[in-house]
Amino acid sequence: MSEPKNSTSAPPWRNFYGRIKGKTLRKSQREWLDEDLAALSPGAVDWDSNPDRTPLDLKALFGDRPLWLEIGFGGGEHLVHQAAQNRDVGIIGCEPYINGVAMLLGKLRREGLDNVRIHPGDARDLFDVLPPQSVARAFLLYPDPWPKKKHHRRRFVTPEHLEPLHRVMQPGAVLRVATDIPDYVRQTLYEVPRAGFEWLAEGPGDWRAPWDDWLSTRYEQKALREGRTPHYMTFRRV
Ligand SMILES: C[S@@+](CC[C@H](N)C(=O)[O-])C[C@H]1O[C@@H](n2cnc3c(N)ncnc32)[C@H](O)[C@@H]1O
Repeated sequence: MSEPKNSTSAPPWRNFYGRIKGKTLRKSQREWLDEDLAALSPGAVDWDSNPDRTPLDLKALFGDRPLWLEIGFGGGEHLVHQAAQNRDVGIIGCEPYINGVAMLLGKLRREGLDNVRIHPGDARDLFDVLPPQSVARAFLLYPDPWPKKKHHRRRFVTPEHLEPLHRVMQPGAVLRVATDIPDYVRQTLYEVPRAGFEWLAEGPGDWRAPWDDWLSTRYEQKALREGRTPHYMTFRRV
């Protein structure tokens, strides 16, 4: 007898250690969340709404446009910049911090972009439902540093995140990672190649120089104010 469709998989246990909510949202931000967020959904991502983990219909979302992904977009300034500069690309941003999502929604209202979708949650849930080899570019900009050694395994640059990211990226696709934490650079240069990416250390991949189309993020501005040095690493998915 075949199994009932919805009973095949249980949600995996995924700890999320970051912040989901910060200071009280302004009235306008609550309105943006209520009025705009649902329409910007990339489809059924969460386990409740998609227990079978049916892949997203990217064609319905973006037609034939290439898909880019920004993981942990914070206030969304870089995502909006990229979406505005690259209207022939579709960008999905994921960010569990709802205050950041609200900030992005405000920016999107002002810009009137049609090529952005938002998953207001954990990137790992999104990876489950992205078709294999569907992502043409990914941005991981100033991921949470988790400075204490005992917390390094919470960092994004661990196999738990990098293996599914590798699976959803196209061969040859570019992954950009920025960080201001030297030990995060160390872990990135160790873990990301192990997950099937090649570091482009020369030319545009020089870690000291930002990318030509870079827009500095809120977190980077804070790092610069506090005297830390940005590192820009470019990888190619093998
Ligand atoms: C240090 S902040 C940087 C934000 C932004 N990229 C910037 O540069 O200003 C890291 C962000 O990653 C988000 N984040 C952490 N874990 C994540 C995950 N598993 N999936 C998606 N976003 C995540 C956090 O909520 C946080 O907003």
